[in-house]
Amino acid sequence: MSQLADRLLPWFDAHHRPLPWRDSRDPYRVWVSEVMLQQTTVAAVVPYFTRFLAAFPDVHALAAADEQQVLKLWEGLGYYRRARHLHAAAKALVASHPAALPDDPAVWADLPGVGRYILGAVLSQAFDRKLPIVEANSLRVLARVFGYRGDPREGAGKAWVWEAAESVLPDRRAGDFNQALMELGALVCSPTKPRCGGCPLADVCVANRDGLQVVVPPPKKAKEIVAVREVGVVVWDGPKLLLCRRPPDAARWQNMWEVPHAEVGEGESDEEAAARIVRELTGVTAVAGEELTTIRHGVTRYAITLTVLAATRAGGRFRRGFYAEAKWVTPAELTGFPVSAPQRKLMTLLTHPPKQRKLF
Ligand code: ADE
Repeated sequence: MSQLADRLLPWFDAHHRPLPWRDSRDPYRVWVSEVMLQQTTVAAVVPYFTRFLAAFPDVHALAAADEQQVLKLWEGLGYYRRARHLHAAAKALVASHPAALPDDPAVWADLPGVGRYILGAVLSQAFDRKLPIVEANSLRVLARVFGYRGDPREGAGKAWVWEAAESVLPDRRAGDFNQALMELGALVCSPTKPRCGGCPLADVCVANRDGLQVVVPPPKKAKEIVAVREVGVVVWDGPKLLLCRRPPDAARWQNMWEVPHAEVGEGESDEEAAARIVRELTGVTAVAGEELTTIRHGVTRYAITLTVLAATRAGGRFRRGFYAEAKWVTPAELTGFPVSAPQRKLMTLLTHPPKQRKLF
């Protein structure tokens, strides 16, 4: 199938987007970009990548960084475990390979957060190693070109698509070829309206020949959405509010900061929930006050409605239970802490309250 590379590489040379990680083969830049790009779009990643590289221009700078600073620079990208793994892997690499990032798949395969995709993406782009990649865009391109009728995201289909990705790799420019597959998926071979008229692979594509673009690959199964009702509490003690750090082993948002929040119990009012949540999670006793806002957000398969109440500290001191640490901070200080997207919405409201609308 070298005919794929013969068609795809000239197309990539002519049509690829000029992205900030494409102007060098520096393995560190490639690595950071590919970790950011997992589960995130190119458009969302570009400003994060630029800021991250300005703060940590090489792997030594990243390894020496404080994790809170790494998380802060990742804030809003989501999937924060990726950032923590990247940081841990940077530390491991400067310890084992201080001179330069290694051209050695065995070393990379052992690092936290490095699965088959990151391994192939970094080593093919930085060192021209003939290693495949599969992600959502290239998966779609390969399934259509070969007319694969199973689901390439599952079981035997997964094995098939990795084999296909390997079988089409050219001997040279494997990294460009991998990027070209992804770029074609992003720009031309889109999920619902592929522009086959502008595709360099149209004349060898089975899905195009047979008109199967809509059913190949089969659309992703919709996940079952579970509605969750939560209450969050801004506990005030004079001009300061209680901000808590989640534990490093939390299910999500590890080591990130937030106001206490949890699910509302059956039959519990928001005020009752607020007082209980603060007491149970922090040891502080609080009297619930006015409702500040309601924030809706999705995390994995959960559709969370978070109602946030103000409260006043009545007594008690913070103790470690669920949270690893807590601080009493002013609203102005909130911008410095890494927080999740829904918590940032709340904090923006606390830092910049909307002007009272005048009625007359
Ligand atoms: N998605 C993930 N990595 C990419 C890359 N290098 N080029 C285009 N799309 C991508």
